[in-house]
Parts: sequence; structure tokens; C-alpha cells
Amino acid sequence: MQNFTFHNPTRILFGAGRIADIARQIPATARVLITYGGGSIVKSGTLAEVKSALAGFTLFEFAGIEANPTYETLMRAVELARRENVDFLLAVGGGSVIDGTKFIAAAIPFAGEPWDILAKRAKISSAVAFGSVLTLPATGSEMNNGAVITRRATNDKLAFSNGLLYPRFSVLDPTKTFTLPARQVANGVVDAFVHITEQYLTYPADAKVQDRIAEGLLLTLIEEGPRALSEPENYDVRANLMWTATLALNGLIGAGVPNDWATHMLGHEITVLHGLDHAQTLAVVLPAMLQVRRAEKRGKLLQYAERVWGLQGGDEEARIDAAIARTREFFESLQVPTRLSGYGISTDAIPALIAQLERHGMTALGERQDFDLDGARRVFELAA
Ligand code: NZQ
Ligand code: ZN
Repeated sequence: MQNFTFHNPTRILFGAGRIADIARQIPATARVLITYGGGSIVKSGTLAEVKSALAGFTLFEFAGIEANPTYETLMRAVELARRENVDFLLAVGGGSVIDGTKFIAAAIPFAGEPWDILAKRAKISSAVAFGSVLTLPATGSEMNNGAVITRRATNDKLAFSNGLLYPRFSVLDPTKTFTLPARQVANGVVDAFVHITEQYLTYPADAKVQDRIAEGLLLTLIEEGPRALSEPENYDVRANLMWTATLALNGLIGAGVPNDWATHMLGHEITVLHGLDHAQTLAVVLPAMLQVRRAEKRGKLLQYAERVWGLQGGDEEARIDAAIARTREFFESLQVPTRLSGYGISTDAIPALIAQLERHGMTALGERQDFDLDGARRVFELAA
């Protein structure tokens, strides 16, 4: 096991009805900006529930944070927050709203051009405090300190993280996920699945607890993902999915082990150039990525084949092939296509994707930093 420091300060309020408890988590004198997306929380009644829980607080609202949140939109929220002297942010929505709110939190007190936080990795020394009410289990943003922000004008989708950007608290109420469209349920399962594989399907580090937690989370997604689609109002299914997605990317299973993240970096370029949902890009990239890097990942692929898919005995190469095929079939069973062609993208698109990776400095990716643009090209070609 590798050395690590693990510290996660986010308080989780889990279960039905927990929105009622948020007032106690926010200073009584706070000027609170509620941030949200395109309106699902208005329709579902979640916004009304949040506002009633915060009766007596000074509240402001910023709506319209889009999927794959943009710098352009978020800067309007920064202006509003500065103008109104907001000192607490409350994100109500999915990963995009929470990520966007992290950027807003960092940008409000930032002296220079906030885009530099992403593009130049400019240091931030403070951030406005924030909490979240999660409505879409997928990204883990509700319990981590990372965010991914898009700048439309320049076709950049860049990630940043900072210890100041953990939510103070996050409400995980599984009933808030009942209204999710099937596509977003499936996206959430795929995204969480790939977060786990990015931290687990690398090379063996004799990290038994991390491995077994990762395998338990994968098995839960395989069991409960399809059920969330067929039984959308099954509370226990939703509860298990929600907690799984949070644990998939809150630092726990990635501590003390090698981390990959190449699949995500390739996926971001597909989203920025072609507009696919984040999870759709991962469903396309992961099976091809595992195939291209099967030699480097051999030990863990065999472990994955056995412990997650129950594939034992016989030829080892055939077992790895079968594990990759089962992964692809699982995503497809959730109605998430796993080929670029499934989204109308041809091989003509590959050079531009490679150019984006190069421009963003994504030339030495993976758990051994040896995954280069040639590897990326092979992955995109295999994913065609
Ligand atoms: O905008 P509204 O109207 O709220 O609708 C949203 C949105 O259209 C809808 N939705 C959310 N909750 C709902 C609901 N509809 C009905 N009922 C509900 N309960 O779902 C749509 C998608 O929402 P979004 O927040 O975009 O999805 P997701 O949570 O998958 O977030 C994706 C973003 O997170 C980033 C991705 O890159 C992408 O930008 N990621 C963030 C990570 C992190 N911070 O750690 C890690 C991930 O790898 C990922 O990169
Ligand atoms: Zn992801």
C-alpha cells in the first residue's frame, strides 16, 4: 500500500426528510445563495422544501447552471454573489450544479481572473462556504473537493480541486432521485462504475481493504443499477445507489493505491467537442481503454474478472476478454451506447480529439503516466 493522507470533512445527512435539518448547518446570519440547474428542482418541489427549511434566512437564487457547467454562466452567479455580499452557497442538484458552485465559491474572493484557477492552476487561498442537496447520484461531487468546468468560448473542459472546496454538508435523500429520467439514472450508474475502475483497475498495490470496498461498490451497482430503472420508486434501491456513488469518489477507495483517470480525460474531450453526457463518454472509452492497456492492467483485470464477474479458470486472456465484454454489456443493458458510432460520431472526429488532448497537456496519463497520444488514438479507434 502507498503512503496517503486521508481527510474528508463533509458532513453527510442521509435519508428521507433530511432537508428539514439543513438550517442547523448554516450560520443563522448567513446570506445564502441557492444555486440550481434548469428547473427540475422547481418541478419536483425540492426547491420549495429547501426554502421552507431555511425560513428566516436571507435567501438569493441563481438558476440555470447547465449540465457540464460553463464559466460563462457561473461568472454571472459570481457577480450576483459579490453584489449581494453572499457568504454561504447552497447547491441543489446534480454534479453540474455542485461543481459549478465550487467554482463560484472559489471565484467570489479571487482577486484575479477566475478562469486562471483552471487554466493556470492559480492558487486559491479562500473560498465561500457551501453545502449541497444532491438530486442525482453519479459524480461524488457532494463529498469531494473537485470540480470540472467548461469554457464554451475556447472548448476547454478542465478539472480543479482544492482542500477548501469540500461541501460543509450534503443532504442525500434518496426520494429526491425518484424523478430522474432513465437516461440520468443510467448515467449515474456508469459514472460511479468508472470512478471505481479508475482507482481499482490499475496495478496491484496489496491494498486489500480498498480493493474489497471497490469490488463491493461495483457489485452493488451491477445489482441495483438495473433495478433503479425498473423500480424507480424503490427507496432501498435508490438509497444503495446513492451511497455507492458517493463512496465511489470521496477519496476513500483511491487512498493508498495508484489512480488512473485516463478514461475521464479522454471523455472530457468528447463532451466538449460533441456534447455527449459525461457518462456516455465513459461508456465509450472504458471498454476500449481496458482492451488497449490489458497488458499493463493484467493483474487487476484478472482479479476484476474473478471477483466482480465470477469468471474463474481456463485461459487467462479469454477471461480478460470476457470481463471487458461483460463491462460493455452492462453499460449497454442500461441503454448507454458504448461506441462512438452509437452517438453518430465517425472516425473523422479522432484527430480533433487528439489535438484537444495535446493542447490540454494530456500526453502522459494513467497510473504510470505512460499513456500517450498514440495510446489515446488507439483507444478512440477501437471505440469507433
Ligand atoms: O438542470 P436540471 O433541470 O436540474 O436537470 C438536471 C440535468 O438536466 C437533471 N436532474 C438532476 N437531478 C434531477 C434531474 N432531473 C429530474 N430529477 C432529478 N432529481 O439531470 C441532468 C444532468 O444533471 P448533471 O448535474 O449535469 O449530471 P451529473 O450529476 O451526471 O453531473 C455531470 C457533471 O459532473 C462532472 C461532469 O464532468 C459533468 O460536468 N463530474 C464531476 C466530478 C466531481 N466533481 O468529482 C467527477 C465526475 O467524473 C464528473 O467529471
Ligand atoms: Zn466521472
